[in-house]
Amino acid sequence: MKTKLYHGVAACILLLSLAVPTRAADTAPIIKPGAIWHDDRGEHINAHGGGILQVGGTWYWFGEYRPKDAVPGRRYVSCYSSVDLVHWTFRGLPIDMTAPEGIGPNWVLERPKVFHHAKTKKFVMYLHLDGPLDPREADPDKAYKLARVGVAVSDTVEGPYTYLRSFRPLGQESRDIGQFIDDDGSAYLIFESRPTKGFFIAKLSADYLDVAAQTAFIEAPIEGGALVHYDGLYYILGSALTGWAPNPNKYATAKELKGPWSEFKDIAPPETKTYGSQSTLLLKVVGTDKTTVIFMGDQWKPRAQWDSRYLWMPLEIGAGRLRLPEPREWTLDVKTGAAGLRP
Ligand code: DGJ
Repeated sequence: MKTKLYHGVAACILLLSLAVPTRAADTAPIIKPGAIWHDDRGEHINAHGGGILQVGGTWYWFGEYRPKDAVPGRRYVSCYSSVDLVHWTFRGLPIDMTAPEGIGPNWVLERPKVFHHAKTKKFVMYLHLDGPLDPREADPDKAYKLARVGVAVSDTVEGPYTYLRSFRPLGQESRDIGQFIDDDGSAYLIFESRPTKGFFIAKLSADYLDVAAQTAFIEAPIEGGALVHYDGLYYILGSALTGWAPNPNKYATAKELKGPWSEFKDIAPPETKTYGSQSTLLLKVVGTDKTTVIFMGDQWKPRAQWDSRYLWMPLEIGAGRLRLPEPREWTLDVKTGAAGLRP
């Protein structure tokens, strides 16, 4: 009897300790996962595999810009800004370039992530830069052999950014990249490395222009790596390696960034394949009342990338557990930090 009572009380405490989104107020702007999201020009937001940088009270969303009418051989990064994470203003194309370093026209620019250096005041963009080993190679399936990161820099957040160079971080193959800024301001790059059968969390150099040191290596076949520090615990999540096709994304936790990391568990019922999405970032919104952690994912349409959609949902997170709720409309108040699920 006593044990039952104890378990009941423990379950209640656990539920109360989870950051569970509440019911929405009627007037707040609405986020509609999977719908077409219009920018200030009325165009569908084109920023895939994105990253978000907060500068003061404004969030900047950088992503792969994949227009229907892309010029062959050119690759682009787009930038949008918002003060509420719902209404987005198009700020232009901070990167609009042909292949650097003689990679050839069949090249890859994916998952841009921007960091702001408090002392140098520079904005530093990391890119997954890839392409075939032979620049004359035309087969798109061979476009992921270089496995490097590119670095570009700007004095202003929306750019344009000047491309500097590419390299293999820590000498390792690097494909999907993710970004993480810890509560103490330290900046990290997350990168997937197939030959090592896992992924790295690596600290950026003092000027952010290089990847300086390995913080953790996690042996798990995970890409689209995204990390958040929430209530004294680190939560990392990512997808399995299935190309553009969705799969069950998984998460692990650790008390310290360097680990030890727990085993990976599903973030949603595995049969939903993360509701058809793939992780790109975990965004922590700290308000006056609450902290909401947003799962940002891409619903890819590989044959019509310009029409790919975004699945953003507030996570149920806390006490070592993380769950992506079934997508539905929701609201966010960035002042209070409260997220509300619509009925
Ligand atoms: C999965 C990655 O997460 C995407 O960013 C992209 O590189 C696709 N693979 C390409 O197949």
